[in-house]
Amino acid sequence: MARAQETEAWRQLQAHQTQLSTSGTRISDLFAQDPQRVATLSFDCGNILVDLSKQLLTPDTLDLLLQLARTMRLTQAIADLCSGEQVNNTEQRPALHMALRGLNVPARPDIGKDVSAALAKMDALVSAVHAGTWTGYTGDRICDVVNIGIGGSDLGPAMVTRALQSHHQGSIRSHFVSNVDPAHLHKCLAQLRPETTLFVLASKSFTTLETMQNADLARRWLLSKADNEALAKTHLHKHFVAVSTNKKAAVEFGIREDNIFPMWDWVGGRFSLWSAIGLPIAMAVGMAQFRELLDGAASVDQHFMETPLASNVPVLMGLLAVWYRNFWDAGSHVTLPYAQDLELFPGFLQQLEMESLGKSVDRDGRTVEVSTGPVIWGSAGTNGQHSFHQLLHQGTEFVPADFIAIAQPAVADNQQQHRHLLANCFSQSRALMEGKTRQQAKAELLAAGEDPARAEVLAPHKAVPGNRPSTTLLLDDLSPRNLGSLIAIYEHKVFVQSAIWNINAFDQWGVEIGKQLSKPAFDALNGDDAADRSLDPSSRALIHHCLNKPGDPS
Ligand code: F6P
Repeated sequence: MARAQETEAWRQLQAHQTQLSTSGTRISDLFAQDPQRVATLSFDCGNILVDLSKQLLTPDTLDLLLQLARTMRLTQAIADLCSGEQVNNTEQRPALHMALRGLNVPARPDIGKDVSAALAKMDALVSAVHAGTWTGYTGDRICDVVNIGIGGSDLGPAMVTRALQSHHQGSIRSHFVSNVDPAHLHKCLAQLRPETTLFVLASKSFTTLETMQNADLARRWLLSKADNEALAKTHLHKHFVAVSTNKKAAVEFGIREDNIFPMWDWVGGRFSLWSAIGLPIAMAVGMAQFRELLDGAASVDQHFMETPLASNVPVLMGLLAVWYRNFWDAGSHVTLPYAQDLELFPGFLQQLEMESLGKSVDRDGRTVEVSTGPVIWGSAGTNGQHSFHQLLHQGTEFVPADFIAIAQPAVADNQQQHRHLLANCFSQSRALMEGKTRQQAKAELLAAGEDPARAEVLAPHKAVPGNRPSTTLLLDDLSPRNLGSLIAIYEHKVFVQSAIWNINAFDQWGVEIGKQLSKPAFDALNGDDAADRSLDPSSRALIHHCLNKPGDPS
């Protein structure tokens, strides 16, 4: 396959970018040139209104990006993804997260049955916990569910559970513990009673250090805090269930085989919230709403598979990401959900995007030679306006932004306050686009009665360059269905970028090195001299400092 940067479309995009920047093309002017711009560049995807009109995008840009997509055989890549080809070539696996929300994959007739069975098993547990028929070792009903997992086995379920707070049903309290820092689990356990707590050990591999350490600690806590340790020990299965592909290791830990929920090698961790990894979500909102979440994602899957590239939202968002990364040198991308309930969304996206696109070798093992995934960051608006938006407006970095807004408030009786939230969201994207010239700044100062000499001095400080692009995704409300759609849009957008760069979006070999190197460091911390000598001088010095060892370690 040709590399993207060797294609004619790439060369033309470079020339086009030069032309746009030298001519000083401004997004605001594009509205004047085309009165239909908003209509042309607004799309409906899974019932989400996606407004691309504030993008640095002319009809020529769009044509060239689509030409690039065709040259890089994007349509074929999407078909390969959906038909169960081994798109994860380094691990020789398909990536079939879409099958978890109903995609039929004729090449894998086993999958549909397995998915339905897993959903039925989740349903049984959720119903039993909600009904109080699944009890702890004393016969008391379960009040708290603690998910122990990390990465994809934490971020997705935690984000969705938090986002759907106003849809929680029943009285189950959800907790998420991920960090190997024991302070994380201790803080959580301090509020809990062993007899009413259910732990979900979520680990696709069931080998992840953090999760295994926390699982052990949770088991020790439960037994040590139980008023009848012997009874608790015989009924431990009532307090621990697992989600994993590694049944053997889960059974060895002490989980009953019946209490192990399946995962499959064809689902990547960061794409797994739709599987039984979503058990804490289902515990919080009930199975009916969990299925709504799946349906929302499925409607975007359909859009992604069936909509022509020119109006396919994940395709357009992915191509725009390539446009800014490779032609405008944007090293980061900010996501700004104007909804406190989406406060964990940027963190979830960090794993989804940066684990998927943080690659510098292509699918054929060649160095990519163009920039791939940008740094993803952000936080819930309006908070960022009072911290990092200064850099977005006047800093030297060019940072494309995604705004996510919810038309209806989560809390119905706060309509006016919610309107302040929306007003801020829409005016931030406008401010990024329009900016403010020196002349405008000076005129404002003068109109406010400022001394002319002082106005002249202040004007450059108050000017805002503008012309900074953004997408706005507008949801009617933060329902399970709409949230499912939102997440699926980003999943597919990431895949589009990976197809253009010809990188594997579904492996994450880079995380292995840290896992490998933590072993000798741990041994050195435990006094193993050979391990200590194997370390670099800086690590040794730090470890010696922790151990209070005198002398120069080098
Ligand atoms: O360390 C990265 C990672 O491999 C992620 O891709 C994954 O989501 C996470 O660890 C957790 O893995 P597991 O579910 O196997 O514990």
